[in-house]
Amino acid sequence: MISKPTAENIKKAAAILRDGGIVAFPTETVYGLGANAQNDQAVQKIFKVKGRPRLNPLIVHIDSFEKLNQVANIHDNKQVLENVAKLKQFWPGPLSVVLPKNPSLSNLVTAGLDSVAVRIPNHQVALALLRECGFPVAAPSANISSHVSPTLASHVEDDLGDKIDFILDGGPCSVGLESTIISLLDTKPAILRTGGIPLEKLEQALGEVDLIGGNKNNAADAKEEISKPLLAPGMLFHHYAPKTPLVIHCDIPNTKLPRRVGLIYFSETSTLPKEFDYSNTTCLSLSGDIDEVASRLFASIRAMDRLGLDLIVVERCAETGIGRAIMDRLTRASASLMP
Ligand code: TXA
Ligand code: MG
Repeated sequence: MISKPTAENIKKAAAILRDGGIVAFPTETVYGLGANAQNDQAVQKIFKVKGRPRLNPLIVHIDSFEKLNQVANIHDNKQVLENVAKLKQFWPGPLSVVLPKNPSLSNLVTAGLDSVAVRIPNHQVALALLRECGFPVAAPSANISSHVSPTLASHVEDDLGDKIDFILDGGPCSVGLESTIISLLDTKPAILRTGGIPLEKLEQALGEVDLIGGNKNNAADAKEEISKPLLAPGMLFHHYAPKTPLVIHCDIPNTKLPRRVGLIYFSETSTLPKEFDYSNTTCLSLSGDIDEVASRLFASIRAMDRLGLDLIVVERCAETGIGRAIMDRLTRASASLMP
C-alpha cells in the first residue's frame, strides 16, 4: 500500500519498523527497503522479499552524524577519523562510507564482514522517519534483487507490493542513482561503487582515491574488476537489468536487427542513432542537463521495459562527474549482450 508521507504515516512506518516489520521509504538516491538494523528477524525479511544473496551486505541509514558510533567503531583510529571529518560535508547526501563496524551491530546486516556501510540520506521524509525510529535502519534499494532500482513509489509497488508492510511515497527521487560507496578501511580511500557524489568531488576532499569496481576512464574496462566478488561484495556484474535486452548505443549488435526498438536519449540536441525505425523514443533532458538525465534514467528504463520491445538502445555520455555512474549502471544493465 502506497501512503502519503504525513506526520501520522511517518509515525506509523516507524512503529512498523520498531515491531520488526519492513517499510519502503524515499531517499534522494533511490527508494530503500528498511528494517531495524538491530533486529535480525526484521533484517532477514529484507533478504527474503528481495531474493537477495546473504553475502550482499546492507547499507545502514542514520539521521545524524552523532549516531555514527552506534554502528561504526572509529574512535581509536586517527586516520579513519581524519578521513571521516573530510567527508562529513557530503552528509546528508548520496555517499555511503565503509567503516570498521561496531561489534554490537548484527552480522546479518554486514554479511559477516567486520565493516559497515553507513549513510545519512538527504531527504526530509527519510530523515523524519529515521528520527522517529531512533535506531539505525538497514536499507537496500527497494527492488527485486538485480532489477533496476526504484525511483518512484509505484516502482516499489510493482516489484514488492504484495510482500511488504508499508510504502511511504516521497515522489520522484531527485538524484535517481544509488549513493557512491567509499571505503575508508585501507590507507588509501577506495570507491567501491560510483554514484550520486562524483569521484572528482571525493578527490577534492581526500586527495587521490582508488576506484575499485569501476575504472576511472571507462566503465566497460571495469567488467573484470567488478566480477571479483570479494573486492566489493554484492557488486555482481549483471545488475540493474530490465527484462528487455538493453544496449548502449555504440554497442548495437550489427547482426540480426530486432523489430521493435526503443531509444532513450539524453538531450534534444543529441545526434540520434539512425540504425532503427524506433517504436518509441524518450528524451531525458531538453537541455542535456546530466543531473536531470541521471534522475530520470531508471524510471525511463522501467517505463520502456513495460512496452514489450525487442531491444532498448540508450545513448552514452562522457564518463566524468555523475556521467561515470550513469555509464556504470548502463554497462551493468547491458552486460548480457556484451561479448
Ligand atoms: O543510494 C543507496 O545507497 C540506496 C539507498 C536506499 O540508500 N541503497 C542501496 O543499497 O543502493 P543496495 O543494497 O542496493 O546496495 C548496497 C551495496 C551492496 O551491494 C554492497 O556492495 C555495498 O553496498 N556494501 C554494503 N556494506 C558493505 C561493506 N561493509 N563493505 C563493502 N560494501 C558494502
Ligand atoms: Mg540495490
